Amino acid sequence: MIKTIGIVGAGTMGNGIAQVAARANHNVIMRDTQDSFLERGMSAIDKSLQRDVDKERLSGEEKAAIIERVRATTELNDLAAADLVIEVVPENFAIKQEIFQALDEMLKPEAIIASNTSSISITKLGATTARPDKVIGMHFMNPVPVMKLIEVIRGIATSDETYQSIKELTEKLGKTPLDCQDSPGFVSNRILLPMINEAIFTLYEGVATRESIDGIMKLGMAHPMGPLTLADFIGLDVCLAILNVLHSELGDPKYRPCPLLKKYVDAGWLGRKSGRGFYEY
Ligand code: 3HC
Repeated sequence: MIKTIGIVGAGTMGNGIAQVAARANHNVIMRDTQDSFLERGMSAIDKSLQRDVDKERLSGEEKAAIIERVRATTELNDLAAADLVIEVVPENFAIKQEIFQALDEMLKPEAIIASNTSSISITKLGATTARPDKVIGMHFMNPVPVMKLIEVIRGIATSDETYQSIKELTEKLGKTPLDCQDSPGFVSNRILLPMINEAIFTLYEGVATRESIDGIMKLGMAHPMGPLTLADFIGLDVCLAILNVLHSELGDPKYRPCPLLKKYVDAGWLGRKSGRGFYEY
């Protein structure tokens, strides 16, 4: 039974997962390296829940109780009591490896370690621990409180028992689990990122303006956001990192990141979070 959930990383995805887990009555321990990151994470949870209070879908007391269930800490050791820890740190294997090894040593033997990675191999993460059967991918979508999907990824050694527990938990969180094998970019980003990359190439080659590209996909294909707006929303550095994984791991030149994307990332134009990407914010 998964009751206490640890979350490593209080950024956009981490605090979104914390909110959804606490709302489903779990005790949550959210860890980040600095108090300021935790404060920002808690304030994002507050703001997101307030939307539902304003729409009278949640009472002020319920909101307070959800926030009360999230404990913020800078100590990784505070996660020792967790039944499941979800790692939500930047897409860098070395950072993730260090966290996985520390968690493996500290958690109880039956605890599950999940990663919200968008493209790093779950098999490879599992192999950094002595419990690869209890390592799994739980890929949440942004914004976490709104999007219904959790892509559940099994590494080569992930056990059926681990998979079943995560599938059940996902449903308790009010999400739909859809499973896939461990393969670069899984299903979601294997399909989404080439589309975004192609949109950037059409801009780069002067085929159309940013507004036209986004408008065509929104009005013509009923996408809620155009691909360039979506890239800004995801973060251009994140988009580039995923494309680099697809390109290097699958070895097919069709995944080559557009030079314009690289240039924007070099310029520090990372999308919404930096105030400028394909659009200005
Ligand atoms: N917290 C809580 N609720 C939120 C929210 C948040 N952060 N952001 C939006 N919402 C809610 C709003 O309150 C509103 O609720 P209601 O309809 O029940 O009243 C609803 O979502 C719609 O929001 P808005 O009316 O403000 O705005 P939009 O209609 O433009 O929707 C959007 C915003 C849901 C973000 C929509 O544009 C969308 O679905 N965009 C595409 C998102 C997407 O593709 N995500 C996946 C990215 S890929 C990824 O995450 C994987 C990674 O590995 C790269």
